This record gives sequence, structure tokens and C-alpha cells, in this order.
Amino acid sequence: MSVLTINKLTESVGAEVTAIDADRLANDDTLGAAILDALEDSGVLVFPGLGLDPEAQVAFCRRLGEIDHSSDGHHEIAGIYPVTLDTSKNASAAYLRATFDWHIDGCTPLNDECPQKATVLSAKQVASSGGDTQFANSYAAHEDFSDEEKQRFGALRVVHSLEASQRRVNPDPSSEELARWRARPTHEHPLVWTHRSGRKSLVLGASADYVVGMDRDEGRALLDELLERATRPELVYSHRWTVGDTVIWDNNGVLHRAGRYAADSERLMLRTTVLGDEPIQ
Ligand code: OGA
Ligand code: MN
Repeated sequence: MSVLTINKLTESVGAEVTAIDADRLANDDTLGAAILDALEDSGVLVFPGLGLDPEAQVAFCRRLGEIDHSSDGHHEIAGIYPVTLDTSKNASAAYLRATFDWHIDGCTPLNDECPQKATVLSAKQVASSGGDTQFANSYAAHEDFSDEEKQRFGALRVVHSLEASQRRVNPDPSSEELARWRARPTHEHPLVWTHRSGRKSLVLGASADYVVGMDRDEGRALLDELLERATRPELVYSHRWTVGDTVIWDNNGVLHRAGRYAADSERLMLRTTVLGDEPIQ
């Protein structure tokens, strides 16, 4: 019998993992490897109503790899970052409005870190309206290209920046905000990410600013068109949150975004990220 009980949520992306509780997550040593395999297959794993407490979430994430501590300091438990628009619960909440646009976590790191292998969110409080999280399979988006497109797009390189993703939600920044965004280096990535496994995914989303060597407007139009194709409904799973749910996604082959929710919403997710070891190449 397989270690996990898994039901696919859509044809393209997402699976629900049932018959698992916080106790088993803490004690079953076979689970880490099984969950990483399932994540590679499904892109997103949903654990309905798990009710993990923050310490247990961090301990569980350690089974998946090394924990990312670069956003520590906003929550009393190391390894936990509160995702909320409420600045009294997270002083850096203003940045999180950018989660409303499709993106991949870790495309504009402080140095040259790889994107985080996995991001884990647990719902502590949900929005009364909106706030579903959507996921799109970017391996499937690549598979969908014609051979000619695979060749043409496979040669493109794209510059990503924090400024590009922040400008979409804050088009008129103060000079201090702009200086803070620009303190983060820009990163040039191939549009098509060839993984060690041989699979190929697309590196697209809010941080993608312009296509190297292409007229700016033409490049932007292409990025917009490719994002639209990559996130069309057949490639998307939308998660409607219930308090206690935990969801994990694979930043290697999944784009994600938060559905809009009000700035004064009580919505609160606790996030832990697991470091990646695959450069975008
Ligand atoms: C994130 C993120 C989406 C959400 O935490 O990286 O994009 O629905 N969150 O809150
Ligand atoms: Mn994100």
C-alpha cells in the first residue's frame, strides 16, 4: 500500500491528501520522501483540516528539506511568516498585495539563492469574501507549446525584479519605497526552466519585467500573452480555504496567486518555505 492516500483535484494540477493527521505527520518518518514525490507529480498538495500548530508546521517542513529563515522576525516561531494584509500582524504586509498577481516564490532573491523548493501555507483565519489561492501548472503550459514555439521561446531570457512585481500593485511609489525595491538586485532568467529531472516549466509572473534583446512593448505583450495561456482555466486549481487547511506547492512547476481580499480582512495564513537547490537554468 502506498504511504499516502491521494485524490487528484483537477486533470492538470493539485491533489488532496487524506487519512493523515498532525500526529502522523510528526511521527511517520516515511512521509517526507512520499510527500516530495507526490508534490513533483501533482504540483500542489492539499491537507484539509489538518489544524497544524506553528511549531508542528516547521517540524514537518524540516522533513522536506532545509527551512528558509530569511523572513524570520515577523512571528514568534522561527520559520513562520504571517501572510496577512494587516500591518499590526506583519510589518511587511504592504509587500503582500503583490500576491494578487500570478508569481513564483523566490524569483528575485537577495543574492543568487534558488527559488524555494516548496511553500507551505496553513489557514488560521479566512477572508469572508475572496482570498482563494489559485495554482497553475507551468510544466503543462510548456508541454502545450508547439515544437516551433518550444524552440523559439526556449531561447528567450527575461529580467525579473522586485520593482516590477511591486509596481503592479503600487504604481506610484514614494522615493523611499522605490529605493527599497531597487536595493534588491534584478535577475536574468531563461523563460524556460530545464530541471534536473528533464522536465521543463515556464518562469513567468509578476516579477517578469522585460525580455532581453526585444523591444520593451513587444516583449511585455509576449509575456502577458504567455501568462494568459499558462493560467487558462484548464490549467488551474483554485483552493477555497477552511480554517485548519494546509497547502503545499512546488515552486519549480507551479505559478500561484491569491484571489483579492479586503485590506482590512481578518485573513491570516502562516507560511513556511523550504529552500530549493535547483537554479533556474
Ligand atoms: C505566498 C503567497 C498566496 C495567498 O505566501 O507566497 O503567494 O493566497 N500566498 O496568500
Ligand atoms: Mn507567493
